Amino acid sequence: MASLALTIRETLRYRGAIGQWSWVLHRLTGLGVVFFLVIHVIDTSWAVFFPALYEKAIRIYQTPLFTLGEFALVFAVVYHALNGLRIAIFDFKPEWWKHQERAAQAVFAGTALILVPMFIGMAYHAIQHYSHDPFILPLSEVLAEQLPFLAGIVVAAIGAIILAFVYNMVMGATEPVGPAKAQGSALERFWWSFMRVSGLLIVPLVFGHLAAMHVVQGVFDLTAAQLRVVGVAPSTAEPFTLEQTAALLNDDSARTENFLNGWNDSGTATEFVAERWSAMLGPVFIWRAYDIALLALVTIHGFNGLRYVLTDYTQGNAVLRRAAGYLCVIGAIALLIVGGAALLSAVPQDAIKMAHEATRAMMMAHGGG
Ligand code: HEM
Ligand code: HEM
Repeated sequence: MASLALTIRETLRYRGAIGQWSWVLHRLTGLGVVFFLVIHVIDTSWAVFFPALYEKAIRIYQTPLFTLGEFALVFAVVYHALNGLRIAIFDFKPEWWKHQERAAQAVFAGTALILVPMFIGMAYHAIQHYSHDPFILPLSEVLAEQLPFLAGIVVAAIGAIILAFVYNMVMGATEPVGPAKAQGSALERFWWSFMRVSGLLIVPLVFGHLAAMHVVQGVFDLTAAQLRVVGVAPSTAEPFTLEQTAALLNDDSARTENFLNGWNDSGTATEFVAERWSAMLGPVFIWRAYDIALLALVTIHGFNGLRYVLTDYTQGNAVLRRAAGYLCVIGAIALLIVGGAALLSAVPQDAIKMAHEATRAMMMAHGGG
């Protein structure tokens, strides 16, 4: 516990120069990744629940605006991870605090070092994609599709404020209290440790996910026909021929499982996910198990981090402070339910055919390929 008190004191004392930058960037990158995560988990669940919507969501990821966002996202994850490790290490070794400045510089240098090869890989995928006259959804549509997410967040925030207001009316007004992080209750001490342990566990999981989705393959490869799906052992030496795939897509009795051979024959993002989520290692659906661990850890870590930030800025107001807590609890539970439900459900039998038809309709509507 002495190290907790020391950490808080030293962090506050150190908020200047490079320490200030590290603190601000850690906060901004954490918040950015939480925001992305909300959209990403909801989107991904559509591969199971609404394949047509999932195809559109992935086409949105494949537009220039989101390509820029992807570089920002990867920077955010890498910087936040390294800086989070620095925070955790120094918490275990408070006597090292005198090396803070050099450690903060090392985090920036380490981030640059990791980002250079990652960005080269991502830029390669992006150049390959954009130099082949790809189908690109118009910006107006890309922006319009984000409105329901924003509306959802606003509604959730208003709902949390109303709940907190009612609670305080019924239970009597409570005194405004300080930021969650600074409280010494057993529960807050648990969360303090959880943030460090979960951060450590998230590092290999999120880096593995990013390596698969950004470097080995890119977001553009999700819809590349006849491509091997990353992390899946193919059951046939070659993908189905174009004729075989067309025959399957036109066959009313063909099911999603008929497509599963480790190759994305149909070139739909839904097949990409179906292939990954059907891959087995021994008796385990390996990528589903991986995603369950990733989902649980990043959601709980991210939303507890969001609670730290929101309670920092609502210290003077008992209703808003309570609302911040509600928003984070409700948000985390909702995301775990949506993401968990997708991960535990079978991909529907007609999902790939629906996805294919939706892609065709989308392209015709926008005069694409
Ligand atoms: C990749 C590995 C990660 C590590 C090592 C890590 C580590 C940490 C640590 C040590 C803290 C400080 C907790 C405290 O002040 O008590 C923190 C805060 C935070 N983390 Fe992470 N984290 C990781 C991933 C993530 C992810 C994926 C998200 C988003 C989903 C996220 C969102 C946040 C937020 C919002 C905060 C609060 C920032 C603040 O209080 O200013 N982190 N993280
Ligand atoms: C643009 C970058 C990313 C792309 C293209 C991407 C792609 C995907 C895909 C295709 C899936 C479903 C199939 C599978 O898991 O193999 C997935 C699932 C998932 N991804 Fe990502 N990912 C990205 C970044 C991230 C980041 C940064 C995080 C963590 C902060 C993350 C967290 C997750 C989680 C939790 C799931 C499971 C979702 C669910 O439960 O429905 N992803 N991602």
